[in-house]
Amino acid sequence: MLDAPTNRPDLPPEIARRRTFAIISHPDAGKTTLTEKFLLYGGAIQMAGQVRAKGEARRTRSDFMQMEKDRGISVSASAMSFDYGKYRFNLVDTPGHSDFSEDTYRTLTAVDAAIMVIDGAKGVESQTQKLFEVCRLRDLPILTFCNKMDRESRDTFEIIDEIQEMLAIDVTPASWPIGQGRDFLGCYDMLNNRLELMDRADRNRVAESIRIEGLDDPKLAQHVPEHLLEKLLEEVEMARELLPALDPQSVLEGHMTPIWFGSAINSFGVKELMDGIGTYGPEPQVQAAEPRKIAPEEPKVAGFVFKVQANMDPKHRDRVAFVRLASGHFQRGMKLLHVRSKKPMAVSNPVLFLAADRELAEEAWAGDIIGIPNHGQLRIGDTLTEGEPLRVTGIPSFAPELLKVCRAGDPMKAKHLDKALMQFAEEGAAKVFKPLMGAGFIVGVVGALQFEVLASRIELEYGLPVRFEPSQFTSARWVHGDKPAVEAFTQKNKQHMATDNDGDVVYMTRLQWDIDRVARDHPELTLSATKEMQ
Ligand code: G4P
Repeated sequence: MLDAPTNRPDLPPEIARRRTFAIISHPDAGKTTLTEKFLLYGGAIQMAGQVRAKGEARRTRSDFMQMEKDRGISVSASAMSFDYGKYRFNLVDTPGHSDFSEDTYRTLTAVDAAIMVIDGAKGVESQTQKLFEVCRLRDLPILTFCNKMDRESRDTFEIIDEIQEMLAIDVTPASWPIGQGRDFLGCYDMLNNRLELMDRADRNRVAESIRIEGLDDPKLAQHVPEHLLEKLLEEVEMARELLPALDPQSVLEGHMTPIWFGSAINSFGVKELMDGIGTYGPEPQVQAAEPRKIAPEEPKVAGFVFKVQANMDPKHRDRVAFVRLASGHFQRGMKLLHVRSKKPMAVSNPVLFLAADRELAEEAWAGDIIGIPNHGQLRIGDTLTEGEPLRVTGIPSFAPELLKVCRAGDPMKAKHLDKALMQFAEEGAAKVFKPLMGAGFIVGVVGALQFEVLASRIELEYGLPVRFEPSQFTSARWVHGDKPAVEAFTQKNKQHMATDNDGDVVYMTRLQWDIDRVARDHPELTLSATKEMQ
């Protein structure tokens, strides 16, 4: 196997062995199944089916909300750490449903690479494309797994062409499928000159791997029936002529994706993919921050919060901030500076997320994700350091696309609603706007399903039934400008104005025309659909 180049040659070995990545896919392509197999080979679970009991509604062990169980979707991102060979993998789970794209986006700020899973029969689907675009914004390296090759699937060249064309990225085959559907036999490993044969009898058995000396090795004919062998030889020859060869540097830069073919449910192709992540996936990378970037090899610890999850266990009312370590060697009990509040924070109970359980983290390194239980001090976008006032940048907040008025079902409990909504806002589950005129709150989300999730969580976690009613507004924009200018604008447009959960000024309307008009008439102000979390 080729050795991957490193763009971080000075990393201490503990950091250099870390691979922090997310899996992106269109729902149903096989992300859960693949995650389960990763955990199985990483020794994090003992047998397949532990992540999602077969026959039951779709659910992983990281799912904990009733809503998720009912809907069979993974609403919240969680992190899982496990060793694979000499590597430490940190797999960050992303919600697959398009309604949760903001959460997904933030999750992708915490990883160094993404695994793109596509269904061999369906190719690039809408959600694949959307998520891919997000990865591209950050030039994230992407490794591709073409799943479900045990079923009727599309022609291999066609799949590769589609990825190249729709996603504008070079694709290089790391393996080549032999036969398809019921005839699917396995793959020719283009990187290691091996024949990998799938075992159909036992879904959890790893494929038989046969070393061969190139494509004219007579051993091939012993294992591959003539008609499939002929096709394989022809296709591999064509592939080598027509498709680019693996260029590890180009993979690291996000210009090329190697593709493995396999069948997650049959445990086929998964190990090769994992080896690929180890070899071609990047080590922890430099983190953008102000006033300077943070390099992973720096001895001092720095990290940032990319997700906050409250009430993971409704009985305990806990709140966990997911922190990606950007540099250094973290040890339990460390005192870190919470840069936003300028206050020190003793991190005495950090947790590492293993597949099945949370475990106390005695230590962690750059690249790792730790959970820090807290009482609301930690918010998305916050930076923690050993003293230097650094601020990690690039964690966005999007203007919600749907706005609704939230009312307490029981007016006597309206006061508690305030607290519940603020908590979800801090968690990043919704935007909460307090209009300047009138009472109540306007809640903004990116996808309609989030209203249902919120309603069910507010009821479950606060015992507070709520209703979401249509709002007169459909768009919200943050207003930026000099304080006096913003103030004057606010006074003139009171009925459109609100503040968000951070106290920032927001302009709300139902007409794009209004937004255009403000832009035209108020050159001293900018209305923006994103703001950076800080
Ligand atoms: P997702 O998380 O991306 O949404 O996908 P998930 O892993 O849940 O897989 C979606 C469906 O595809 C599941 O079937 C799963 O068993 C099936 N699947 C995953 N990998 C493969 C594969 O390599 N080959 C084939 N043929 N099927 C695969 P389901 O019927 O929805 O659920 P279940 O009853 O099998 O659990």
